[in-house]
Amino acid sequence: MTETLTIRKADPADRQAILNLYQKVASFPGGIARVKDEITPGYIDRFMNGARERGLELVAEHAGRIVAEIHAARPGISVFHHVLSDLTIVVDPDFQGKGTGRKLFTGFLNRIREEFPDILRVELIARESNRSALRFYTSLGFRQEGRFEGRIHSVTGGFEADIPMAWMRDQG
Ligand SMILES: CC(C)(COP(=O)(O)OP(=O)(O)OC[C@H]1O[C@@H](n2cnc3c(N)ncnc32)[C@H](O)[C@@H]1OP(=O)(O)O)[C@@H](O)C(=O)NCCC(=O)NCCS
Repeated sequence: MTETLTIRKADPADRQAILNLYQKVASFPGGIARVKDEITPGYIDRFMNGARERGLELVAEHAGRIVAEIHAARPGISVFHHVLSDLTIVVDPDFQGKGTGRKLFTGFLNRIREEFPDILRVELIARESNRSALRFYTSLGFRQEGRFEGRIHSVTGGFEADIPMAWMRDQG
């Protein structure tokens, strides 16, 4: 499966496919923070524009279909010029657990290393119950930096901790 994946930069023409992908992923609770109704065209436009202007967005294509996406962007303030923030990665549920996310995220970090020498730090946040995602990020060189107690609504009711993680150029 992974041999047939193409990793490339996202293009504005990918907007509808990325919207569809995010809505599909958001239909499964416990992954990304947004629920399906919160995956709006405006949300997609904001992160696509932000990544194009101040960061990086990649997609993974399989047989001409976008099956995964990753993006992050600089916050837009000069003191944070070395930081890529608000990272989100999604893989089509039909393609999860097959190496797609690893190939896409590895490609993303390789591009950061090679094409973005000013970026020293990449940040993300993941809910504590998303154990496989947290293990995945750790295996890519991200380190847990704390624990935001009770920050995010839990699928099982109540609230759970959000986990801030960062990848540093010299350590990742
Ligand atoms: C989290 C996500 C991006 C991982 O992508 P993926 O293509 O499913 O993951 P991969 O198959 O490349 O596996 C990468 C690692 O993730 C973990 N993993 C992925 N799927 C797993 C599963 N079903 N069970 C256990 N571990 C799993 C493993 O640690 C795996 O490590 P390995 O390569 O050493 O086996 C993807 O599952 C996804 O989009 N999930 C829903 C949205 C989400 O949670 N986004 C992240 C929000 S913070």
